[in-house]
Amino acid sequence: DCHAIILAGGSGTRLWPLSRNLLPKQLLVLGGTSTLLQQTVARVLEVFPPDHVWVVTNEEHVFEVRKQVAVLDKVLEGQVLAEPLGRNTLPAIMLGLDRVVEANPKALAAVFPSDHLVSDGGAWARDLARATELAAQKRFVTFGVRPDKPETGYGYIALGEDLGENAFAVRGFVEKPDFLTADRFLREGTHLWNSGMFLFSAKHFLTQVARCEPVLWNWWMGRDEAPLVQGYRDIPDISVDYGVVEKIDNIAVVKAGFEWDDLGSWEAMYRLGDKDADGNVVRGDVLAMNCANCLLISEGGKLAVSGLKDTIMVQTRDATLACPKDRVQTVRDVVAALKAQG
Ligand code: GDD
Ligand code: MG
Repeated sequence: DCHAIILAGGSGTRLWPLSRNLLPKQLLVLGGTSTLLQQTVARVLEVFPPDHVWVVTNEEHVFEVRKQVAVLDKVLEGQVLAEPLGRNTLPAIMLGLDRVVEANPKALAAVFPSDHLVSDGGAWARDLARATELAAQKRFVTFGVRPDKPETGYGYIALGEDLGENAFAVRGFVEKPDFLTADRFLREGTHLWNSGMFLFSAKHFLTQVARCEPVLWNWWMGRDEAPLVQGYRDIPDISVDYGVVEKIDNIAVVKAGFEWDDLGSWEAMYRLGDKDADGNVVRGDVLAMNCANCLLISEGGKLAVSGLKDTIMVQTRDATLACPKDRVQTVRDVVAALKAQG
């Protein structure tokens, strides 16, 4: 018996100006016809019974999330849970687990981010089945992706003993290493990227929270007297990766049989987009003359560009971004600077 907890509360900044506080990455259509959240819920519904699916977001986004999920016609409003504010992924998972253990204290739980692209639903479902076997043997299961660059925004999983059928024991877990460490992991070929999906026994997981994060554990245990959303403001802001995964043993990893992309930057949007004869990815009301290998998006008004190479331009009704394609990681700094300006 396995429940799904879909995390949909993040606020994307690296895809500014399309993603904003009010419309983060998971709530956008980024290629295809549905949003990343809708694609995630649809994929999950292929494997999980509808009443085993929980979506956790925050109050600011709950209206939009319920609206998007309602289109799929299976997940009820009451299964979309709202935090009063974002306190990162560990408290969000615990909010979902509250419902899971209420339904079945012995259940397994699978956690899914809502802002990723997963290419092959069939392979993904097979990997989930393998993970379910491993979780039944009291393992905390992660899903690993082979790295192809020294990305510092991911968690890294050190491969241990081969458990067969695409699964390995985990020697160690390092969340967001510095560049030199990430580069070494890549060269040595001993690590996989953590895709951010997990599968585990709810009861076993909560035991680890009690050990690793006593403040969160006390908050969780107080839920008989008050709903979990009370006191949310006062609990620590901590991700499941730093709070639990880095600190536990007995982790297993299933090597992902599916293609995975975190769509973390405009460069990824370019890479995955359909290109015209000049290598441009163009969306919206755009006139491009003598441009090559550019990403050109307009969601508001006419965007006319001439003679640009390897450039990103994204225009919305009230904001425009332009930057060279190899500088997309600085968009985060741009957003921070804009916030500082007020
Ligand atoms: N409900 C809720 N509340 N959801 C949240 C919150 C929150 O406070 N914060 C983040 N999320 C959601 C995001 O929307 C996303 O779907 C997922 O949880 C993961 O959060 P991120 O903030 O995107 O995590 P990350 O990218 O820094 O790192 C994680 O993902 C990487 C892969 O993309 C880690 O698990 C890394 O180890 C991993 O490599
Ligand atoms: Mg992320």
